[in-house]
Amino acid sequence: MTIKYSDKVIEHFQHPHNLGKLENADVEATEGSAACGDIVTVYLKVNPENHKITDIKFQSYGCASNIATGSIITDLAKGRTLEQAKKITWKQAADELGGLPPIKMHCSVLAVDTLHSAIKQYEKKYLGKVFDEHLNKKNIEEKLKSIIYPKVGLDIITLRMVKYVKLDENNDVLIEMTIDDEYKYSVFEHITNQLKNSFPEINKIKIVAV
Ligand code: FES
Repeated sequence: MTIKYSDKVIEHFQHPHNLGKLENADVEATEGSAACGDIVTVYLKVNPENHKITDIKFQSYGCASNIATGSIITDLAKGRTLEQAKKITWKQAADELGGLPPIKMHCSVLAVDTLHSAIKQYEKKYLGKVFDEHLNKKNIEEKLKSIIYPKVGLDIITLRMVKYVKLDENNDVLIEMTIDDEYKYSVFEHITNQLKNSFPEINKIKIVAV
């Protein structure tokens, strides 16, 4: 299958902005994709007075979609406050790039998730924020809000595609959702990846289309 990329994706892939290691970074975060095995690292330098991102870089072992997204989101985040940068979404990155092929969604989501994870690291380390990251049903549902349905670019919770979530005493997770198209397996893969990354204590994940 040939994938058609926009001119802007190709431009950012061939000449990525903010690429490389940031030597004096305050924090760094690395995330991987179970779907393809690729990884991305985002480095942040933040002004402690006003919480603006003064410098940001990324390193990627991903594909063209991933590198182009890393390039655009680091451009978007630079000079912004942490609160503003938190609001950068996959949809915004995709729009800025003139669209991304839905089949490559996990690649671009990976870059955006890594930015959010780096911001979280900073908040934990320097701002003393404490996050409830326990494995429970509420936090699983919260995590599902970051799963994008590529056909429309919104998350599966907003779209009410998730009908049922169960976590049992063996830490097995069952998710029932309404989805029956060519994006099904890519969405399932992304859910599995996100939940396993966030909650390593999960035993098994079963996702069924109802
Ligand atoms: Fe792995 Fe795109 S295929 S990041």
